[in-house]
Amino acid sequence: MGKIKIFAPNTVSNVGCGYDVLGFPLEGLGDEVLVSEREDSNLVIKDISGADLPINSEKNVATVAVQALLSASGVNRGFNISIQKGIPPGSGLGSSACSSVGAVFAVNELLDRPFTKKELVAFAMEGERSSSGQAHADNVAPSMLGGFTVIRSYDPLDVFNVPFPSELLAVVIYPQVEVTTKYAKKILPKEISLKDGVQQWGNMAGLISGLMSNDFDRIGRSLQDSVAEPVRKTLIPHYDEAKNTALEHGAIGFNISGSGPTSFALTSDAETAESIKKACSSIYEKNGIEVLSFISKINPEGAHII
Ligand code: HSE
Repeated sequence: MGKIKIFAPNTVSNVGCGYDVLGFPLEGLGDEVLVSEREDSNLVIKDISGADLPINSEKNVATVAVQALLSASGVNRGFNISIQKGIPPGSGLGSSACSSVGAVFAVNELLDRPFTKKELVAFAMEGERSSSGQAHADNVAPSMLGGFTVIRSYDPLDVFNVPFPSELLAVVIYPQVEVTTKYAKKILPKEISLKDGVQQWGNMAGLISGLMSNDFDRIGRSLQDSVAEPVRKTLIPHYDEAKNTALEHGAIGFNISGSGPTSFALTSDAETAESIKKACSSIYEKNGIEVLSFISKINPEGAHII
């Protein structure tokens, strides 16, 4: 019976102006998903470590995503799934996406790759639908494919990678409070003004252009969000102070990672990254809020066998 272990990276999604349409994966932080074939056709979550999550196969994002793959391929096979979580859900780092991505990538390998990596994104999205109520792809697509990933369209699904400067570093600041994606989506405005739309479209074009041409000033000017940040920052303690501090310490830009509470800064310089990390972490420490912070390159590979 076949068995395989996959690493699927955590992700920063939205990246400021790209609500639900842009994300990038981190290095060294993610889920390890071990999948083995069963004699019968059941999907069974054997164990989950690193987070308190449902073992119930109908509720777990990994089995929901694998079921979507099996239904599409018409294959009637069973698998055991064990998940070692890197980061618990509710972080804004695409934790549920890692489990879905790892599981569908693993099953696809064990079935001798009936689907391309890009095609697997749609199945992993079903895991997101079950956990957040919406099948958004800006965590699963970058976790699967690696690099800066754009979702140009959801219907039909059109996902592609954007070249980015290899020296880019993300400083990730994760204050230990929980924000569920479901709630963070619910509080967003249902409509936006034309003025905000125009601003957002301009920034999105600027960000993509800045990434493709290694123009850090343009990346910085474009890393803004007129839609989600104004509402969601109220869920993140000391957000404005952390943002101002990161920018004062030389960050190219700063924004909320996914639906928060994690925020991120971009820089191209390792020393600047260290000083942003230290200064932002100390804001939380001095206010008695536990904080996890780290520096990561942009992961170019995405999900892979380990
Ligand atoms: N794009 C999603 C959101 C990501 O902002 O709600 C959730 O991690």
